[in-house]
Amino acid sequence: MPLDMVIGAQWGDEGKGRMVDLFAEKASIVARFSGGDNAGHTVTVGSQIFKLHLVPSGLARAHTIGVLGNGVVINPNTLLKEIKILEDGGVSVPPERLRISPAAHLITPAHRALDAAQEKMRGKDSIGTTLRGIGPAYMDKTARHGIRAAEMLDEEAFTDRVKAHVEAANRMLTGVYHAEALDSQLVAAEYLEYARQLKPFIGDTVGLIAEALQAGETVLAEGAQGTLLDLDHGTYPFVTSSNPTAPGALTGLGVGPVWVNQVIGVAKAFQTRVGEGGFPTELEGEMAVRLRGTGENPWDEYGTTTGRPRRVGWLDLVLLRYAMRVNGFTHLALTKMDILSGLDSIKLCVGYQREGVSYQDLPLGVYQMELYQPVYEELPGWVEDIQSARVWQDLPVACQNYVRRIEEVVGVRVGWISVGPEREQMVRLVDLE
Ligand code: IMP
Repeated sequence: MPLDMVIGAQWGDEGKGRMVDLFAEKASIVARFSGGDNAGHTVTVGSQIFKLHLVPSGLARAHTIGVLGNGVVINPNTLLKEIKILEDGGVSVPPERLRISPAAHLITPAHRALDAAQEKMRGKDSIGTTLRGIGPAYMDKTARHGIRAAEMLDEEAFTDRVKAHVEAANRMLTGVYHAEALDSQLVAAEYLEYARQLKPFIGDTVGLIAEALQAGETVLAEGAQGTLLDLDHGTYPFVTSSNPTAPGALTGLGVGPVWVNQVIGVAKAFQTRVGEGGFPTELEGEMAVRLRGTGENPWDEYGTTTGRPRRVGWLDLVLLRYAMRVNGFTHLALTKMDILSGLDSIKLCVGYQREGVSYQDLPLGVYQMELYQPVYEELPGWVEDIQSARVWQDLPVACQNYVRRIEEVVGVRVGWISVGPEREQMVRLVDLE
């Protein structure tokens, strides 16, 4: 049963790239199943550093085929740019190495304009989207008038569709949002050019994945965003418009659950969030700066896609256990553990309280979570630098206790702990097939 998944267990930016990198080694296909170019990951191959948003980061490995599944929304401009970035960096991306589902939807400049206009209209209730047009593209999908990748195969009909789509969006932009209209002719001509270039990449991704699985090959579903940003299971309405969870991987690729092998939940050793929405364990002041970093280092907590400083806080185990339930993780990977070194003590949110009543799990999932107060346990910190740790015994006892407490409350084993920015700075606790 060789479908592995790497899933964000928090609000995204958990450092999933690390685990994708590890699991991509044995995978023949690495597939994105949700979201679009709102994601962001930095991939290092040899001396090359690639900043990617849309293509599966596993594509940077020469032996893998990248798939953009039916659940993904594709900005063709971003996609072509990323193919060029990879090729300029010596990674060849011919059509047989990157397959686009005919059922994936396209993002257009009209979606981006609508995203901006809707955010502006929300005013103080804005979501803090990445302004990549994600929400409006999924709105068109569910309204059943979105433009799908397969439509690029018929140039004439595609041009008419794009034109009509922009004109329809213009009526919304000008009539409802008092924003500027786009030139539909210009957008249609731009998209015709994209269609000509992307046509060869469109293929039967469901069949490709099914055949690989039947042949015993490993397929890796590469998650973007995180569980708490899931449209159904996240902190609605402050979520993205897709399902970045394990169940979403099945729908977003067209694969049955029988093939699932490992579901790796990736969580930071503390909590971060970009954009608006509840964050019960959020910190401010000195400790926030300490966890976030100042922005000087590439691993400091600033958004890869938008550059926004991330909100930071203590690890919330109630939310992590919730993510465990939604996804059915087989293991957790904890990232950025080294950032906690040197703290006198570390807090863990192990429950909530409301009007004198204690809760181990929030009664309605994450609904109205802001009405509850986090209950903390305070654990001793450690002073040792753990960046050179590679096995469990290398970790200070206080760090081991921190990990054990997380496992206990969440109810799942931790399989990996990252202890530094480099690929090899990882404590491996399991060796999986
Ligand atoms: P959208 O996906 O651009 O519509 O943004 C919706 C929410 O999801 C906002 O709070 C974004 O900051 C957040 N978001 C979207 N993609 C990511 C990501 O890759 N990492 C972290 N947050 C994200």
